[in-house]
Amino acid sequence: MNGTCMDRIEILSVELLDKHRSLVEELKQLANRLGLEFGWHYLLDLTWIISWLGDFAGKNILDGGAGSGILQWYLAHKGATVYSVDRESRANLPWRFRRWVKVQGLRPSDLNPPMSAVVNALRSSGAITMRLRSAYQVLQGPWRSISPENEKSPGIVWIYNQDLQQLVDIADNSVDAVVALSALEHNPPSKLPIVVAELMRALKPGGILLATLGAARDQDWFHKPSRGWCYSEATLRNAFDLAKETPSNYGRYDELFEALRNCAELKENLAKFYFRSGDNGMPWGVWDPKYQSVGVVKIKE
Ligand SMILES: C[S@@+](CC[C@H](N)C(=O)[O-])C[C@H]1O[C@@H](n2cnc3c(N)ncnc32)[C@H](O)[C@@H]1O
Repeated sequence: MNGTCMDRIEILSVELLDKHRSLVEELKQLANRLGLEFGWHYLLDLTWIISWLGDFAGKNILDGGAGSGILQWYLAHKGATVYSVDRESRANLPWRFRRWVKVQGLRPSDLNPPMSAVVNALRSSGAITMRLRSAYQVLQGPWRSISPENEKSPGIVWIYNQDLQQLVDIADNSVDAVVALSALEHNPPSKLPIVVAELMRALKPGGILLATLGAARDQDWFHKPSRGWCYSEATLRNAFDLAKETPSNYGRYDELFEALRNCAELKENLAKFYFRSGDNGMPWGVWDPKYQSVGVVKIKE
């Protein structure tokens, strides 16, 4: 297969933060507003993906392994139609996201109406009482018709709870771009090519796939705290079916990792959840990155 001149493998440099300063600040503010905390390298991943996307207003974008992550809300707020795919159910998606942009289920089972989502969330947390339940019965009708504040937001997020290996409801050649932020690494090296092939099937010819994953210096390894794989350059080349001339900066692995370890901004902005346990990527909030992020760009021919 011939590669295109845009395809590449790029370990993410911390220089991205200063290079895209206004975007970084905008993302921090949006996260604050939505009550979202970032994984320790997400600012890099987000900045890299969004800066590669260029002008995406009015485009159809598939966010693979979206969870309730900020990327989909950002893209839809700026005018994209986002297909938000994840194997974890978001049926009870909190109201704060629905206020920000229009959100719908691709199928009825993908997203519960706002009030039943609230009740289900309370029920599963054990907080619901008989009184709340009867209040819900009363509120069901009128509240369902309340329009979200976001009616002016031009985009929409379609929630689709599905495994990326088989996107049965997404037609061939139907999306302008595919993004996957720190998601594909939750698939073992043997499964990664299947996921990538399915994402490429959905992409229109000429469309761009932008994925960030964990990078491994020499050999694939599994990072237990984040339950994610770190992949070697060879594994990525194979999984994304990249031509041998596709450029890569894996040769700068050590130098880029050193700069990451010394990155004061990421260190000082560690999310609060890291400080609450010793069983995460930064136990008890001590800055000590064990891997770095790598971005893959692939254009569909
Ligand atoms: C670390 S989270 C990142 C979520 C989101 N991209 C963000 O920026 O916050 C990874 C997500 O990818 C999803 N994921 C990984 N592999 C998947 C697959 N094969 N099918 C569907 N979802 C997948 C997981 O369920 C999880 O929600």
